[in-house]
Amino acid sequence: MERRLELTPRLRAVASLVPRGARLADVGTDHAYLPVSLLLEGRIPGAIAADLRPGPLDRARDTARIYGCTDRISFRLCDGLTGIRPGEADAVSIAGMGGETIAAILSAAEWVKEKRLPLILQPMTAQPELRRWLTRNGYAILEEKLAQEGELIYVILSARAGESAPMGSAEEWAGRQFPGMDAPLRGAYLDHLLRKAGRALEGMARSRMGRELPGYHELEQVYEGLLEMKKEWEQWLR
Ligand SMILES: C[S@@+](CC[C@H](N)C(=O)[O-])C[C@H]1O[C@@H](n2cnc3c(N)ncnc32)[C@H](O)[C@@H]1O
Repeated sequence: MERRLELTPRLRAVASLVPRGARLADVGTDHAYLPVSLLLEGRIPGAIAADLRPGPLDRARDTARIYGCTDRISFRLCDGLTGIRPGEADAVSIAGMGGETIAAILSAAEWVKEKRLPLILQPMTAQPELRRWLTRNGYAILEEKLAQEGELIYVILSARAGESAPMGSAEEWAGRQFPGMDAPLRGAYLDHLLRKAGRALEGMARSRMGRELPGYHELEQVYEGLLEMKKEWEQWLR
């Protein structure tokens, strides 16, 4: 029986935000590497591994069997949190899904907000939309981490029910920053976002409607805001 499951940097960053001792509901668990690794390290006492599809849930069961933790994981075939009862979990992780899917899962489970469960979210896409949804729907983003695998930089958010100051549009893209923030990948992340916004603006400017295209001026503001954030970040590093 394997005793240790080494996570990749992305899932390691997700794991680092899971509160010690929490019963974790891992939604969209697929292979269940996250809950199994946390169980093996003794960081959590038990977990619910949930997935929408039978194939991924079978993979989750296989991993649990290989690592000898089947007795501490409850497997649920369900959409989002629909198969999990309030009171069964102390924290929720949703990793490796689109930001809009994550928001839809949370909006269908108000009890997560009522119980003020810590959330650990790792959106693969639509990060600005997820930040906006969280801060406008009664959640505060408590911390953000970045993780790199090859060329890709992943964002991991921890959030919980609470008041949140409104975010500017560039902050929705990049997350908040503050002096002394422990974020070695922050500069590279801002560069990546600037390239992405710059490419989108160029594409829009080349289109038939050009700068009159809906959304062009909003995106231009995002770009300007990101440039400011990059400048500010570089000053803080000096
Ligand atoms: C790319 S995998 C991510 C696996 C793992 N969480 C990770 O980050 O490595 C996404 C998983 O989410 C599941 N999924 C997608 N939509 C879902 C939903 N609405 N509810 C539950 N699971 C979902 C898919 O079946 C798939 O197994």
